[in-house]
Amino acid sequence: TGMFTYDPGFTSTASCDSAITYIDGDNGILMHRGYRIEDLAEHCDFMDVCHLLLNGDLPDVPQKKQFEHDITYHTMLHEQMIYFFRGFRRDSHPMAVMVGVVGALSAFYHDSTDITDPHQRMVASHRMLAKMPTIAAMAYKYSVGQPFVYPRNDLNYAENFLNMTFSVPAEEYKISPTLARAMDRIFILHADHEQNASTSTVRIAGSSGANPFACVASGIASLWGPAHGGANEAVLRMLQEIGSKDRIPEFIERAKDKNDPFRLMGFGHRVYKNYDPRAKVMQKSCHEVLDELGIRKDEPLLDLAMELERIALEDDFFVDKKLFPNVDFYSGIILKAMGFPTSMFTALFAVARTVGWIAQWNEMVEDPNHRISRPRQLYQGNTGRELPESYKTN
Ligand code: CMC
Repeated sequence: TGMFTYDPGFTSTASCDSAITYIDGDNGILMHRGYRIEDLAEHCDFMDVCHLLLNGDLPDVPQKKQFEHDITYHTMLHEQMIYFFRGFRRDSHPMAVMVGVVGALSAFYHDSTDITDPHQRMVASHRMLAKMPTIAAMAYKYSVGQPFVYPRNDLNYAENFLNMTFSVPAEEYKISPTLARAMDRIFILHADHEQNASTSTVRIAGSSGANPFACVASGIASLWGPAHGGANEAVLRMLQEIGSKDRIPEFIERAKDKNDPFRLMGFGHRVYKNYDPRAKVMQKSCHEVLDELGIRKDEPLLDLAMELERIALEDDFFVDKKLFPNVDFYSGIILKAMGFPTSMFTALFAVARTVGWIAQWNEMVEDPNHRISRPRQLYQGNTGRELPESYKTN
């Protein structure tokens, strides 16, 4: 046996060099390529942030125009992919559909599977960024039994996504600028988060030389779990289960009970030991959306969430363990107000995180130090066993 460190869950292992995203968990700071997430969410749109993550810098005006062109050029899905959707049960979870359909992209875009060609890597990146909203919206349309809506390249990324999701041929769909801005901001807040579980999964898958579509499919699979991207869905279910403010203490006690598997969903983080800066922006955005939609008082879940946060942040258990609301705590309330069913929440996270996965995958492929990811283990099982006699006669 060689010498290696035992680090289950990789709490203290840096797996790569990266220049994309910086997190200072103790101080609640998140930066992409050196820019604070609060500034990006306030002053940039999702295309700016995608360009920043992928190429290292915010685009100037001509660069932005070119980048938007590169993305819109690829928004359509190969028509044959419709059969993939039709093969699923109507009640399939959208994440199940997305894992399958995104994995299948590698069967359609063979040219983009040559990872040794930087140009093809960029084409693959643009393709995935462009097609992910189309795929997510189609998963939604299929689940509600409405016709698929084709992408519209005259709309921006968020508007096009809302249109593909909510418009129907029978009537004109007016895209609310408030909703489009909120959608765009949600995409920005989820765009990248350094070496989280799904991104590490993408890097590990890619470390063997696998094609980027296959790698992103593996990222979607990892994101699905409730400890990761699945938390936004779990938060809303939890708030609905709590139901009213007087029941909050009961659930707080359950979250503190070591013998009860219940956790406060949308609370805690491996890296943040302070307020998640994304959650702050999300909370503000949540108020704005509910106010502008005029449904503030019809949404008791926001009051419930704020009260839950207040009580938890005053409780010694949460204070001592440094458990704060994370990005998923408020996002579900906005998405619900926008009209998305709970089952789409994690699919939207996947749409947004695709740029992070791709940027990190590109960085890895270009890194001269990158090798196949191959963790070691501490073997605890049997050795040197003899086969039973009965097997030896065969
Ligand atoms: N509710 C109650 N107790 C908690 C919670 C929670 N949400 N989170 C952590 N703890 C306790 C945990 O029981 C443990 O206690 P002890 O040290 O006594 O055993 C301690 O805090 C540390 O927790 P951990 O599970 O060792 O921490 P981790 O870094 O392995 O896990 C986490 C991080 C995010 C998986 C976890 O906090 C969690 O399960 N949170 C709820 C799910 C959630 O909101 N996930 C979203 C994460 S943010 C963005 C994203 O990826 O989507």
